[in-house]
Amino acid sequence: MQFQADFSLQLLNTFGIDAKAMQFLRISSVSDLQYAINKNEGQLPIVILGGGSNILLTGDIPKLVIQNTIEKIQIEKEEETFAIVDVGAGVNWHDFVLWCLKHDLGGVENLSLIPGTVGAAPIQNIGAYGVELKDVFESLYAVELATGAVHFFSKTDCAFGYRESVFKNKYKDAYCVTSVKFKLSKKNHQLHLNYGDISKTLETQQISNPSIQDVSNAVIQIRTSKLPNPKIIGNAGSFFKNPEVDRETFQKLSDTFPNIVHFDLPTGNVKIPAGWLIEQCGWKGKRVGNTGAYEKQALVLVNYGNATGQEIWKLALDIIASVQDKFGIIVHPEVNIW
Ligand code: EPU
Repeated sequence: MQFQADFSLQLLNTFGIDAKAMQFLRISSVSDLQYAINKNEGQLPIVILGGGSNILLTGDIPKLVIQNTIEKIQIEKEEETFAIVDVGAGVNWHDFVLWCLKHDLGGVENLSLIPGTVGAAPIQNIGAYGVELKDVFESLYAVELATGAVHFFSKTDCAFGYRESVFKNKYKDAYCVTSVKFKLSKKNHQLHLNYGDISKTLETQQISNPSIQDVSNAVIQIRTSKLPNPKIIGNAGSFFKNPEVDRETFQKLSDTFPNIVHFDLPTGNVKIPAGWLIEQCGWKGKRVGNTGAYEKQALVLVNYGNATGQEIWKLALDIIASVQDKFGIIVHPEVNIW
């Protein structure tokens, strides 16, 4: 374990932005992390890097960047119908999903192919195709960056919301998640097939009684057809969150825009896909210098080559302004801006 000064993060963020960390360190255990906190003695602010798939680096980082590579996957407890699995924060998320499929453990198949690490997953309560991390979450351990103390967090402690948790709010940059426990089904898996194109994809494949493996395959097929592969085109998935408006605001909007795509929420509010709003403003597939909004999914901003973080951020601000101008709605970034 070695501190490295002026370390390029280009290979460690999926936007592929070339920015430098003032200090960089890779840790692979809780004690490594505690050692690093001690050694740093509060000199530099610490930020934790997982898979680098949900950040935009807008310049060099005058901080100690710690990459968390704590690895383990272990069945902690087994009952007749479920298992509790304990996973290191540095495990690649999709590798964890594949491990679950191999052991016929159900619950995360809809979350197949989401980039990033297991430790980053609870920070923004990752979600896709009708399932969120919180649906399978049991608890986690995290190290307090100010003291090195290990703390336990229950599901309630995490205060999960749509792409939200306590770690994006009250405890922003205050903790490093070191391990996460999941509660997964061992039999009679509850499949979630209603969102988007999942059932249509399964029908096309003539699968009438799908397994969790079939659902995962369908999700992978849908994702790869719509979302750019960060290894080929730099991106961080959805750049913005889908905004929510109250019913009255929605009524007014739908008078002006009768084709508005929307989803009614149990609260009475209405969710509007940011991708639709951005497309309506003419951004879908539009290229601005080295950046743009992806041609198959306007919600994904991409780096076509040597874009700087500032260039992508400028595009994001222009998109926010045009959506606000046309619809009176403010879309908020889903990625973390560093
Ligand atoms: N749409 C458009 N134009 C676009 C994109 C979308 O009109 O360019 C409309 C379509 O009508 C579509 C609707 O928006 O029916 C919803 O699109 P989609 O199902 O692709 O999902 P999304 O709302 O754009 C969310 C998540 C994704 C997740 C998918 C599938 C957010 C911010 N994004 O996207 O998550 O994969 O649902 O569950 O909630 C991510 O967080 O990085 C991410 C990719």
